[in-house]
Amino acid sequence: MVKKRDSWGSRLGIIMAVAGSAIGLGNFLRFPAKAASNGGGAFMIPYFISFLLLGIPLMWVEWTLGRYGGGFGHGTAPGIFHSLWQKNRFIKYFGVIGIFGPLVIFIYYTYIESWTLAYSFFALTGKYAGLSNLAGMKSFLSGFQGLEKNQYFNGLGQAYLFFLITFILNIAVIYYGIKGGIEKLCKWAMPLLFIFGLILMFRVFTLGTPDILKPGWNVLNGFGFLWNPDFSALKSAKVWLEAAGQIFFTLSVGIGVILTYASYLSKGDDVVLSGLTAASTNEVAEVILGASIIIPAAFVFFGPSDIQSIARSGVFNLGFVTMPLVLNKLPLAAILGFCWFFLLFLAGITSSVSLAQPVVAFLEDEFDVIRKKAVSIFGVISFILCQPAIFFLGRGVVDELDFWGGTFFLVVFATIEVIIFAWIFGMERAWDEIHKGADMRVPKVYKFIIKYITPLFLFFILGMWFKQEWLPIILMKNASSGDRPFVLGTRLGLLIIFLILALLVKIAWKRKKALMEKIR
Ligand code: ALA
Repeated sequence: MVKKRDSWGSRLGIIMAVAGSAIGLGNFLRFPAKAASNGGGAFMIPYFISFLLLGIPLMWVEWTLGRYGGGFGHGTAPGIFHSLWQKNRFIKYFGVIGIFGPLVIFIYYTYIESWTLAYSFFALTGKYAGLSNLAGMKSFLSGFQGLEKNQYFNGLGQAYLFFLITFILNIAVIYYGIKGGIEKLCKWAMPLLFIFGLILMFRVFTLGTPDILKPGWNVLNGFGFLWNPDFSALKSAKVWLEAAGQIFFTLSVGIGVILTYASYLSKGDDVVLSGLTAASTNEVAEVILGASIIIPAAFVFFGPSDIQSIARSGVFNLGFVTMPLVLNKLPLAAILGFCWFFLLFLAGITSSVSLAQPVVAFLEDEFDVIRKKAVSIFGVISFILCQPAIFFLGRGVVDELDFWGGTFFLVVFATIEVIIFAWIFGMERAWDEIHKGADMRVPKVYKFIIKYITPLFLFFILGMWFKQEWLPIILMKNASSGDRPFVLGTRLGLLIIFLILALLVKIAWKRKKALMEKIR
């Protein structure tokens, strides 16, 4: 017997929600930084190839798998994989990654999201309005993050307060459920996000040449910096890996969240056109809005030589140091600063609620816990898990969480999904399943792509990763000796979380078996 599960209120609702999950900090911070530091326009070649050969096919695979599993009452990967391959007793454990990944991303993503809320407030109240150089703005950020005590901040107090507000908002949204919480939020947040994005884009387009003594520092050259291709970058494996990694992160594929969202669809609901629409909306937000704000704006004010180091200095510096400095130089700085940070906040919250939902769905579907209780359990556990990211930010904890939860396991999980779908469930059945209720046909070439090209591409990425990065990562080469205990502690913590989730899967299946036997 399959019990009644939550559902979406409308088709527009789920498209907005998936687009909301996809459009996030990745579009406005991670993408411009990656594109600018990996060969500018040339980065877009591997990026678009990855979009066509990994992003789009995986999007369709995940929508279809989610809808299929939802028909059996499962909203997360362990149950969905089990419904696809019922004879295999172990396959459900591979699905643990689909709950683990989003939980791990949630615990650092929500904290960074809370900075955007804090900075929206600081922009309006003029807290950083007087700052006009990189050193000052950097020290403002470090003070806020609790990494140093200075004239702006006397510890982590304010950051913690904004974290609490953001965390409670996230929990409140999922408490109201799929239709009443997530769908409602995304339906107003997405249009608002686009409005803020367009305002900023328009502002950047009209920057012209602010300093007549530096005629080369103009907005056209700013776009040129991002878009003029450096084809030598194409020979580097790293550029290909980063482009593919960006596609995963930005589309929210390989995480597990689309599976969960699609599990609330009905059997006859279209997934082909809806999936494509959500993915395309994300690309518009990324390639058009994301690329037209931060990099060209920074170019105009910092010029061609500094922009390289700015782009490479990391996404936090770009978003929270460079951008507010640029906006401070313009009229209406407070309003523009608010637009920028609130845009990031809306992008962030519509993504973080999707990261929270898999754990909640797992408790509801596999342990028959009611939603409010499931959300409360998730709230308490994830709150505790967020603490190391807050208190040990400077010790490499967030980078470690981002590597495992936000990068490595995405590729592993996507590989497992596509193999199960195309090879075990079988490509013929898979193709029929994709097209149930479909409003358009998937181009036939995708049958070949999903079966051969996507898995091969994924194996290639994993192979390259192992070749280039495995050893330095295991040996923690990127961490300073002082940070290594923290990095190791994070790794151990992650391993424990993974094992607990696997144990919960085991208990859930045992419990269901016992229930079934009782009924018989
Ligand atoms: N897809 C989300 C982002 O781009 C996670 O931030």
